[in-house]
Amino acid sequence: MRIAVTGSIATDHLMSFPGSFTDQLLADRLDRVSLSFLADRLEIRRGGVAANVSFGLGLLGLRPVLVGAVGADFEPYRVWLKQHGVDTDSVLVSEEAHTARFVCTTDRMQNQIATFYAGAMTEARRIDLRSVVERVGRLGLVMVSPDDPEAMLRHTRACRALGVPFAADPSQQLARLSRREVLELVDGARWLFTNEYEAALLRDRTGLTEAELLRRVGCWVTTHGAAGVRIRRAGRDVLAVPAVEVPGVVDPTGVGDAFRAGFLAGTAWDLPERCAAQLGCVLAATVLDYVGTQEYQLYRDVLLARLRDTYGVGCAAHLTPHLREVS
Ligand SMILES: Nc1ncnc2c1ncn2[C@@H]1O[C@H](COP(=O)(O)OP(=O)(O)OP(=O)(O)O)[C@@H](O)[C@H]1O
Ligand SMILES: [Mg+2]
Repeated sequence: MRIAVTGSIATDHLMSFPGSFTDQLLADRLDRVSLSFLADRLEIRRGGVAANVSFGLGLLGLRPVLVGAVGADFEPYRVWLKQHGVDTDSVLVSEEAHTARFVCTTDRMQNQIATFYAGAMTEARRIDLRSVVERVGRLGLVMVSPDDPEAMLRHTRACRALGVPFAADPSQQLARLSRREVLELVDGARWLFTNEYEAALLRDRTGLTEAELLRRVGCWVTTHGAAGVRIRRAGRDVLAVPAVEVPGVVDPTGVGDAFRAGFLAGTAWDLPERCAAQLGCVLAATVLDYVGTQEYQLYRDVLLARLRDTYGVGCAAHLTPHLREVS
């Protein structure tokens, strides 16, 4: 089953300033600020939700189709994603704007000054999923992840028109979407993904109860950080899956995206939802061991051992035949 993942593609430029921002801000000069901080460390990390999810699916051997908009600077990132099994041929390259970029400087007191440049991402609304289907053939699922809001709506409408099942993952964009827009993204989704906070925000935004929302989607998957995952379907008991225990978290970024990659791979392989969620939790636990969202590797034996140690042998047995591509 072919999965397309639509959404943001970005790089994070993270700098450290060894001093203190507040020492440099003069209270009586705030009407004309002109400051430059001499940073002593720069880390450039690959990111963007759609790229992160695709990376995880690629590592699992699924050849996902990444759909989003970037700038001409994307080429080295494209090579990286292709090396990890991602089909990047449906990525739109803007003629004017750079790839979306998050630039953040952190000072010695952990104060942060950050800017997000959406750049080429605003052109994602020009992408027509029909052209993706024409190129790769039938899609089994389209994941609609945080992106230019117009693009998210367009892709969702295209899925309905094409009769392609879709997953709604509005996450960070929930805060800026109207009630009507949120309902349009969610209505008829096969899967709805949120974390705990976004689940509350979704109820608030739509004014709908959990039961009412559940009638509009196939299945609602909510992640609760170290407390694991809850899977809900209308008229069924909640299915709770605990997280994998991770003793020392190295860097928490990217857990949500890694979980989605594992979960979607599990469903693409027709595994029971419980197993899909367990695989998602193992991928999320793996990304917690690395700095960055696409720096982790998967090793079949380690993955299966982690699955067995946390959940017993059941799902490991289901999974083994699907992990041939994982080294
Ligand atoms: N501290 C942790 N220990 C073990 N597993 C974790 C931990 N934090 C997160 N996870 C795993 O990752 C999944 C997703 O986590 P979480 O609910 O924090 O996502 P999120 O809030 O969307 O994160 P983000 O958007 O920052 O990536 C959880 O269901 C769990 O399996
Ligand atoms: Mg998230």
